[in-house]
Parts: sequence; C-alpha cells; structure tokens
Amino acid sequence: MKPDEVRQVVQERYGKFAETAGNAADSCCSKPAIQACCAHEQAIYSRSELSSVPEIARNLSRGCGNPTGFANLQPGKVVVDIGCGGGIDVILAARKVGAGGKVYGVDFAPQMIEQAKQAVAQAGLADRSVEFRHAPLEDTTLPDASADVVISNCVINLCPDKDAVFREAFRILKPGGRLAISDILLTGPIDAELRERLQSGWAGCTGGAIPEADYWDTLKEAGFTEIKVVARHLLSDPELDGMACCPGKEYTPAPAADDLNQVQGKVVSVKFTAIK
Ligand SMILES: C[S@@+](CC[C@H](N)C(=O)[O-])C[C@H]1O[C@@H](n2cnc3c(N)ncnc32)[C@H](O)[C@@H]1O
Repeated sequence: MKPDEVRQVVQERYGKFAETAGNAADSCCSKPAIQACCAHEQAIYSRSELSSVPEIARNLSRGCGNPTGFANLQPGKVVVDIGCGGGIDVILAARKVGAGGKVYGVDFAPQMIEQAKQAVAQAGLADRSVEFRHAPLEDTTLPDASADVVISNCVINLCPDKDAVFREAFRILKPGGRLAISDILLTGPIDAELRERLQSGWAGCTGGAIPEADYWDTLKEAGFTEIKVVARHLLSDPELDGMACCPGKEYTPAPAADDLNQVQGKVVSVKFTAIK
C-alpha cells in the first residue's frame, strides 16, 4: 500500500472503533486497559491511574505502555500526546502538569478526538488547559519549540513515514525537551516477502513495525540524542495475536496464521526516552 492509502485505512479503522466508544463485541483487542491485549497481559496502568480515568477512555485505550509513568512530567509543563486516541494519557498527563500546565492531544481520527474531549470533561478536567488537534502526526499544526515533552503510546508503528513523524516531534519540542514513547518494533529484519504480506493489509501494529536498529537511526537522523530504553518486552504469542489485529478483528483483518507464526519471538514492545 502507498503511504496515503495506509493513513486512510488506519484513520478509518480507528475512527470506526471510536464510534463504538470501545464497546465493540468481544474481539482480540476488546479488553480494557487494565489487561489490554493490544499490550502486555500484565496491567499497563496502575489501578489508581485507571480509577481516575472515565470508562470511555479506558475502553478506547489501545496503548502498549504507560508513557506518563516514565516521562517525568512536572507541574507547569507543556505536553503533547501524538496519536492520543480516546485520551487516556492526555488525562493522566493533565493531572501531572496541573492547572499551570497544558496538554495537547493530536489525532487524525475525528471520532477519537470527540470521544477524548468527552472523556476529559467526564474526568472533571474541563477547566484545565487541555486542547485537541485533529491533525496528522506528520503535521500537528503546533508552533515550533512549544512543547516540553512529547509522549506517544503505540502509534508510530502505524505510521508509514516515521522520519516525518520524528522530524515533526523534534520541531515542536523546545531545545532540551524530551520524547517519552511506547511503541512496537521488530528485533531485527524479517523476510522481505513476509514483510510485504504483513504490510499489504497494514495488519494492526505488525504491518508497520520496523527493526529496532532502523528505528533508532530514524530518531537520530531527526536530531534526537540520549536515547534511553526504559523497558523492553518481547510479545508472547497471545499478545502478538492481539497486536496483529489492533484495534480489533472487526476492524483489522488478522494476518495469515503462517505469517504470524514467522514473526513470533521477533516483536517487542519498547519504552524509551530521547532528548532534543
Ligand atoms: C493504537 S491507537 C493508540 C491510541 C492511544 N495512544 C492509546 O494509548 O490508547 C493509535 C491512534 O493513533 C492514531 N493515528 C495513527 N496514525 C496516525 C497519524 N499518522 N496521524 C494522527 N493520528 C494517527 C489513530 O487514529 C489512533 O487513535
């Protein structure tokens, strides 16, 4: 698929998923964030974090980590969540930066933005400085050097032009600002034909996952330094099954079982930070 076709497919899938408010019939990815199958089977958020987030944002959560848990967010800071989905990390970030800070959520699925706005209101944060941008990650519409921290949770793997996404994150960060990202990567290169088949339907989070070494090179080429891996988790087979059809089988056709078998043990969920 061409990059624009990929973007359209991803936008439609997540838009439709958002319309259900995460209440879709049982699917590979329909478990709430406390036991997300689009993430590790272990809980990715603490119970206290989850209890502070409205159901709508929990149900729409499709992350593979908890970026606000390692982003070291401080009161008064400006945070941008790129690919904010239903707003779970926007809400957690807004609590950490407090009334003097600001959080932007960026997503290209308008239905997600609507649900995230509703979740922020239900979380009692309507009076806080939270703003959403309906925009692609490659062009967030935010000003240069305006953010202290850019967070992202299981999104960049879905983007066909990762260079453009990291260049844009670099542009909007203040000098000395940082990235705190959870994403899905491959441990190394995979067979070219297999890769093409996975990409032909842009199958969930595996269709666009790239080898770790290429990912770090892309980050460095965008200008980032001090890349630190905070955690790295090899996906188990059931976790991989869930990831491969994220946000759910009714939206994303699962890849052929043989193809999925061939990437078993080669897909990792990685949390990292990097500095502008
Ligand atoms: C797997 S979900 C994760 C959502 C959220 N970060 C979370 O943890 O629940 C991916 C989100 O990224 C958005 N997205 C994917 N590619 C994008 C792009 N190129 N530009 C803007 N949003 C994008 C989708 O619309 C979707 O809401």
